[in-house]
Amino acid sequence: MPDELTLAKAAAARRGVERVRPDMRLALGTGSTAGEAVRALAARFPGEPFDCVASSRATEELAGSLGISVRPLRADDRFDLMLDGADEVTPSLDLTKGGGGALLREKLLARLSKEVVILVDPTKLVAHLGERAPIPVEVVPFARAVLARRFAHDGYRVRHREGPDGRAYLTDNGNELLDLTPLHPIEDPRATADALASVTGVVETGIFVGLATRVLVGHADGRVDERTKDAPPAP
Ligand code: A5P
Repeated sequence: MPDELTLAKAAAARRGVERVRPDMRLALGTGSTAGEAVRALAARFPGEPFDCVASSRATEELAGSLGISVRPLRADDRFDLMLDGADEVTPSLDLTKGGGGALLREKLLARLSKEVVILVDPTKLVAHLGERAPIPVEVVPFARAVLARRFAHDGYRVRHREGPDGRAYLTDNGNELLDLTPLHPIEDPRATADALASVTGVVETGIFVGLATRVLVGHADGRVDERTKDAPPAP
């Protein structure tokens, strides 16, 4: 029997997949909830030759194993819908992403998508980014030690992400990750993201501002709450 969190993620994923039509160009996110969405997609549209791009090798492999083939990104790509998870969601639908290490490709695909639907369980809802999960920052390996020192000086607790073998975790782009825990709540996510991104050696940050168009919050009993940009949750 799946645990409560898995049931909640699966409920959000199923609702997200209800927005899919076979003729859509799709962008697929990364992580356990995005994985539930890929499974729900395969279950709802068996054998459908979707036109889709994945944000990681992991998602590409999962999709392929379920009969959904994923193609490389093209120069003129635009997507009708992106389905993805998140590590944190604020009331204004700002996000922390990158717990699964795919933040750069996720952000690029989100920017190319008309609709970005974020699928979460209720534990992901926060008042401020950085409250529940660290902010992942993708950095070039050459700069990593210098940047770790700098961010510690700037007021973050800094953790260099490692893989299960204890070596530096490498993203699909061959970069490393610093997970930053802010010592104070992030009041202005856009300013924080811009400040981090402006540092030489930073490739991308896991702060997503203004990219999610809809957030689906699944519950273990199958209910799903919807939040959209124009209609935040009722108080
Ligand atoms: C992947 O890089 C992330 O952005 C994920 O979307 C995020 O970490 C949420 O993952 P889970 O759905 O596994 O919690």
